[in-house]
Amino acid sequence: MTISVVQGARFSAIKGIGGYRPRRVVDNAEICTMIDSSDEWIQTRSGIKERRWAGEDETIQMMSVSAARKAIERAGLEPAQIDTVIVSTVTHLYQTPAVAATIASELGATGAAAFDISAACAGFCYGTAMADSLVRTGTSKYVLVIGVERLSDITDPHDRSTAFIFADGAGAAVVGPSDTPGIGPVVWGSDGDQAALITQNEPWDVAMADEAHWPVLQMNGNPVFKWASYTMAKAAAEAMDAAGISPDQLEVFVPHQANMRITDAMFRALKLPQGVIVARDIARQGNTSAASIPLAIEALLESGEARSGQTCLIIGFGAGLVYAGQVIALP
Ligand code: UT7
Repeated sequence: MTISVVQGARFSAIKGIGGYRPRRVVDNAEICTMIDSSDEWIQTRSGIKERRWAGEDETIQMMSVSAARKAIERAGLEPAQIDTVIVSTVTHLYQTPAVAATIASELGATGAAAFDISAACAGFCYGTAMADSLVRTGTSKYVLVIGVERLSDITDPHDRSTAFIFADGAGAAVVGPSDTPGIGPVVWGSDGDQAALITQNEPWDVAMADEAHWPVLQMNGNPVFKWASYTMAKAAAEAMDAAGISPDQLEVFVPHQANMRITDAMFRALKLPQGVIVARDIARQGNTSAASIPLAIEALLESGEARSGQTCLIIGFGAGLVYAGQVIALP
């Protein structure tokens, strides 16, 4: 007896991308009312000028649906054509059910397979890799990948090592079949030995034992900075090699928006030509973890700095530690 299998499209690509940026802009002056810091320090060390924090109504669900509607429309599709929804988030405060299922329902992607993943700031690239495989194996035709965070919910506003960095937002992409290659091989991995560098400070059961506790993120930024600047540049180079793209063929570079200095260090280490367009969305948006890459791509496309069809390197890295990167064609 032979088990029947399905086969999908030869290639996949991102067909449309959309974002949601919360209404409330929080500048560095406001941050400095809560921590001992300065606008100058924050800008010099991180490149962040302002970030956005979600209001009560700007929930994980609401921001995701809003970003996803734009991505689906830009892909020229109807929500009912989406057959799988992958949501990457570390700030959906329900242990269960997965927010992907209720997002699928609200969108009208009725009956779609739906699940959440936890890959922190690498989440969008993890999701894109999975979507690429699902489309090419024929498991799904159109996959919606969402990166969404309300990091302000789990950030201590008085912690000077995190309060100025983390922010809120959502980005979404639709991955579907393509006549030409639109998503290169993923280069991904993890290093759990370094898990303590970025982590929730205590588990929920410990927190629940004392009503005054609310778990928050803690980060030992400097070692993460060094890991990101050197090890991640190597992973990014491997992703370009795997896609057969040399630095002089690359047109756009969109690393996770963690720190402008990390972006600059990676740019130098990769020896990218000066003409390569580099995402610098962190200046306005802060670090939105899984949402940062799709938000940054949307900003480049909307401003006209980058355009559809360009060859773009994306790489996400963060808590785990985990990372993933691939070369894509911009939608
Ligand atoms: O998204 C997930 C991945 N995350 C990242 O990739 C984040 C990576 N890390 C970073 O972006 C950087 O490490 C930070 C922006 C968080 C910090 O920058 P840094 O250059 O690594 O600073 P540092 O922690 O080495 O601290 C340098 C100095 C220290 O003072 P001394 O000892 O030199 O006198 C700190 O006490 O800056 C001081 N400092 C601050 N000063 C003003 C630390 N935080 C602050 C602050 N304001 N908020």
